[in-house]
Formats: sequence, C-alpha cells, structure tokens
Amino acid sequence: MKRIVVFASGSGSNFETIVQKLHGKVCEVALLVCDKPGAYCLERAEKLGIATLQVSLKDFASKADYELAIIKHLQKVEPELIVLAGYMKLIGEVLLAEYEGKIINIHPALLPAFPGADGIGDALRYGVRVMGVTVHYVDAGVDTGRIIDQDSFKRADGETEQQSKEKIHAIEHDLYPRVIEQLLK
Ligand code: GRF
Repeated sequence: MKRIVVFASGSGSNFETIVQKLHGKVCEVALLVCDKPGAYCLERAEKLGIATLQVSLKDFASKADYELAIIKHLQKVEPELIVLAGYMKLIGEVLLAEYEGKIINIHPALLPAFPGADGIGDALRYGVRVMGVTVHYVDAGVDTGRIIDQDSFKRADGETEQQSKEKIHAIEHDLYPRVIEQLLK
C-alpha cells in the first residue's frame, strides 16, 4: 500500500479526516510531522495510532538543517505524497529539492485570491460572497503552486463568519481526501 505523510502545526482536523477516510483503505498514513510542541494534532495522532515526529525549528542552526532532519525520517517511509494540512511554515528549498511535485497543500480560499496565513479572515474582511477551498502543489512561493482542485459556496444572506468558517472546514474535509485518493491512483 502506498504511504503518505501529513505535516500539521495546529488542530489537525484535516489530518484526522484523512486518517479516517483513507488510512488502511487507500493508503497508509505513515507519519504525522508536527513543528509545534503540544499541538492538538499530536493528540489526535496518538488516539488514531499514527506515528509522529515532533521537530522544532529553533532546535536547529538553520531551516536547511531542520528540513534535513525531517528528510532523514521521510526516507525511511518513502512517501508517495507529502500532504500539508495546516502546516504553518513555508516549505524550504531543501525539502522542495527532494520532493517537488509530491508536496500538496490545502488553502481555505479560492486561490489566487487571498493567499497567506489568514485566507478565511482576509476573504471575509474583503466582503466576498463566494468562498472556497483550493488544493494545490507546493512550490517555493506562498500558495502559488499549480492548482489541483477547488470547491466553493455562496454565502447566504446573514451568514455569520463562524458559519462560513464551518462551511469551509466541511468542504476541506470532503475535498482533501478525495484529491489525495485521486492523486494516488
Ligand atoms: C485549514 O483551514 C487549512 O486550509 C489551512 O489550515 C487549516 C488547518 O485546519 N491550511 P486543521 O488543523 O486541519 O483543523
């Protein structure tokens, strides 16, 4: 069975959905890489029985050294895909050189609109009526890689920010596992 690795920094709801929908059926989720000590995604991984690697950039002399340490673990897994799911660091040149074309990300806005760390907040502040989600390949830019798939919805009259955020996450949890399954075929 093909193996994938998920990178996350925070809650990990996408990670959990990917594990529930795909692990042991479509692929093996071989490892969760997390750059934030104490992040909730680590707890989820423990409950789900998925191996974790917790690495902190501050423990390394450079981003290159940090990424080389991650690569050492990835080489044991030989992942078909590296799936970023709320990983809040830019992928650096060391990881890109090793895995370009195999790293994908999910972004909570309709790229190329609203790239960056707060896509949902930026879209809401702009006042958009149509919101959505993008899955794309990762390149050296911020959310600039080739788009693989997108999904969208129109905000209802009177819809609160919280309701829009919930819709975004529901779309993510549907779209991301489907795209991963498709790419692994
Ligand atoms: C998602 O909204 C994703 O689009 C963005 O980060 C968030 C991660 O959420 N890149 P979670 O940690 O999977 O709940």
